[in-house]
Amino acid sequence: MAIVKTPLSPAKRMGNIEPFHVMNILSKARALEKKGRSIIHMEIGEPDFVTSQSIIDAGVQSLTEGKTHYTPAVGLLELREAIANYYLTEFDASVSPNRIVITPGASGALQLILGTLLNSGDEVLMPEPGYPCNRHMVRLFDGVVKGIEVTAEDDFLLTIDTLKQHWTDKTRALMLASPSNPTGRLTPLTDMQAMLNVAENNNAALIVDEIYQGLVYDHASETALSIDSENLFVVNSFSKYFGMTGWRLGWLVAPESYVPVLDRLAQNIFLAAPTTAQYAAIKAFEPFSIEVLKQRRDEFKKRRDYLYQALADLGFILASKPDGAFYIYADISPFSNDSFEFAEKLLEEAGVAVTPGKDFGSEHAKQFVRFAYTTNIAELKEGVGRIKAFIQGWALS
Ligand SMILES: Cc1ncc(COP(=O)(O)O)c(C=O)c1O
Repeated sequence: MAIVKTPLSPAKRMGNIEPFHVMNILSKARALEKKGRSIIHMEIGEPDFVTSQSIIDAGVQSLTEGKTHYTPAVGLLELREAIANYYLTEFDASVSPNRIVITPGASGALQLILGTLLNSGDEVLMPEPGYPCNRHMVRLFDGVVKGIEVTAEDDFLLTIDTLKQHWTDKTRALMLASPSNPTGRLTPLTDMQAMLNVAENNNAALIVDEIYQGLVYDHASETALSIDSENLFVVNSFSKYFGMTGWRLGWLVAPESYVPVLDRLAQNIFLAAPTTAQYAAIKAFEPFSIEVLKQRRDEFKKRRDYLYQALADLGFILASKPDGAFYIYADISPFSNDSFEFAEKLLEEAGVAVTPGKDFGSEHAKQFVRFAYTTNIAELKEGVGRIKAFIQGWALS
């Protein structure tokens, strides 16, 4: 008798986990490039700069010295001390290394926090638009996502009144990124303090993702850690400001009494963050490296200023200038009411890749696209020229 083989079906929870659509745009863009098309990449959420040489050298040296074994699950003490010192010198925030856990990227940090915090059915509030993977990580741990729409009229900021309206007795955490992906908006520390008060009064957590912290352009960068609270978790990463996306390294800062449970989960799900990356990252905090990073930040600021003005001149509707990160979230309603179609056509017809709002939340997503200024000004200028011609053609069609 012939055996009928049925393909394995994934767990039901995978039905709730959508792809990261920007990855599809990226692979379409790469496929077009393979066919010889020139593509301007404004979809990619990672710096175009290669990791600075002193950091690479430190990684290579650690390998040559045979440092190829696991580190403790919470990470190398030397790196945790370097991060604590960074908070003190750059932000005047006193953070004990005992509160710091090194993770495989901010992604690893978010999973550790959510995995240790959520019971099945717990609600997690998050502003929409926001970083898409957060929704899916909450679902992975059987949490329930409650998106709260933030609008351009409110500068994409979550107000305390709106937060309170959405809070229920099932709310376990509020998650937000500051500066935000995709809006680049920084949540003021006074708002952060008010949000923490709400969390503290309800035995819940505030999870602040500061992955774009070093990339703030018009004023000094800040950290939620300047507020003292037992309900605060801060996530950060070497990916963006430190230009180390491929090294897969990040960290979190938790209340000290909570670290043992994070340590226990880390031991079980990834054992430790990559050793080579940890040795390399220690070098990232040396004055010479910080100098290089600050020069790169200045370059991002120039790009932001150029692109913001250029998009405004083309007729995109923009909120006030983003404070940080490397994104501009633009309202395309003067040209289209379907950002997915707009992004697809822009790629196919004009060779410019952007991310449709669909990735960042359901509300108003069709009205927005995200432009990333992770490419140099000459490329951005070429991109803007192509977008201009595309829009003119679109208006005629
Ligand atoms: C807001 C936000 N958090 C977390 C991540 C994940 O970063 P990592 O490379 O550190 O895992 C990203 C990546 O784009 C992001 O934009």
